[in-house]
Amino acid sequence: MDTTRRNFIKKTSLGTVATATLGSNILIGKNILGANDRIHCAIAGVRSRGKAHAAAINLQENARITYSCDVDDHILEEHNSWCQKNIGYIPKIEKDFRKLVENKDIDAVFIASPEHWHTPMSILAMQAGKHVYVEKPCSHNPREVELLVAAQKKYGLKVQMGNQQRSAVTSIKAIQDIRQGIIGEVYKGEAYYSNNRGSIGIGKEIPIPEHLNWELWQGPAPRTAYKDNIHPYNWHWFRNWGTGEVHNNGTHEIDICRWALGVDLPEKVTSFGGKYTYQDDWEFVDNQQVTFSFPNGKFITWTGHSRGLIQPNQPGRGVTIYGSKGSIQLDRNFYKRYDLGGNLLFSELEGVASKTTDTQGQGGLDVNHVGNLFDAIRKEKPLTAEIKDASISTMLCHLANMAQDAGETLQIDTTTAKVLNNNAVMQNWSREYAPGWEPKI
Ligand SMILES: NC(=O)c1ccc[n+]([C@@H]2O[C@H](COP(=O)([O-])OP(=O)(O)OC[C@H]3O[C@@H](n4cnc5c(N)ncnc54)[C@H](O)[C@@H]3O)[C@@H](O)[C@H]2O)c1
Repeated sequence: MDTTRRNFIKKTSLGTVATATLGSNILIGKNILGANDRIHCAIAGVRSRGKAHAAAINLQENARITYSCDVDDHILEEHNSWCQKNIGYIPKIEKDFRKLVENKDIDAVFIASPEHWHTPMSILAMQAGKHVYVEKPCSHNPREVELLVAAQKKYGLKVQMGNQQRSAVTSIKAIQDIRQGIIGEVYKGEAYYSNNRGSIGIGKEIPIPEHLNWELWQGPAPRTAYKDNIHPYNWHWFRNWGTGEVHNNGTHEIDICRWALGVDLPEKVTSFGGKYTYQDDWEFVDNQQVTFSFPNGKFITWTGHSRGLIQPNQPGRGVTIYGSKGSIQLDRNFYKRYDLGGNLLFSELEGVASKTTDTQGQGGLDVNHVGNLFDAIRKEKPLTAEIKDASISTMLCHLANMAQDAGETLQIDTTTAKVLNNNAVMQNWSREYAPGWEPKI
């Protein structure tokens, strides 16, 4: 008999604990995993980033993907072939996330859906007793950050955000060096990203494709007509579902700056920017400059060029951390240290490279980051991007969008993140939900 299967049966028959019944009739059933037990995973959203999750899970010891969840039959069909070829088996299919989490043969849920689903899915998963790997940004709006952190506290499960550079060997080493004063007193983090994304055009209302469950795709978001330039991927640039580039890529880089400087919430946020390139349906700025300033005089800048590369010759993404005695440049794949004169003193490459400018970001950091989640589940090892801390980086990105909308410097309450000087932008603290779809904990 397959011993992992036997372990699984043991886990589900004897090791499942029912710890509470929630108002919504959901029974928490958490599988208790020992240090050698197989971890069963489900992936929600399998078109692009979900494949990076699958590849990383497949490289872990004793882990299996039991379910793929998606709402587009064409994507599921394509993903099944991909799985057969790349991981050697085809996981079961469940299209409705609410039903997915009821399955007992899932210990951890990986969420790579559009962003309006991130917090609602994470909460549903936790309520069903599942650990969570949720892609960045972990929420669609600031209120969802609060809900997600409260849910993790309530249900006590492991929740890792997908800011995988927190698991980079070279970045971890750089932060240790910074803490030991290798570049003196650190005061500034420069986060940047540039790409040359094209126009997304003006969407045309068309019949919903038969292979797509548009009702489930929309889920918590207020209902709209289906247009031909939303799914897949371009939902990133619509406010109903996405959060713009400051979240899409800024969450990664701003998070590294925050880590390096040892700061949490800012006291002031300023944003300049606009939509300078194409006349299309894109609803956010496409080029943006944000400054976050912190109570101790430290500051972080975000330079986001979605449509037009930073010139001359700056790498596509990364951070530079400035200290009183030198500076450090980090990206997913390297750590470089300079003296005040700009002379390179130290340089190290990450062992297994990760993609930096494509839309999937697959690579060695995913493997480390998923491995860290599994170590936390099996051995109570600390998470490198546990949600209480990681979500602060998502909150900074929400504040950046709010500062851009406000058109003035926002004063922030450094314990709650609430805006103190602009009531109008505080109206966007939460969102309108489709009736019956509000996340509840
Ligand atoms: N950490 C990283 O480096 C990294 C890299 C790329 C993307 N991402 C993040 O991953 C997420 C997904 O991005 P993407 O580029 O793969 O988007 P995508 O649009 O290519 O894929 C999203 C998939 O989710 C599916 N989906 C929609 N609603 C669903 C539902 N209710 N249940 C299950 N599946 C559903 C869609 O059909 C689609 O297949 C985004 O939040 C993005 O920011 C992270």
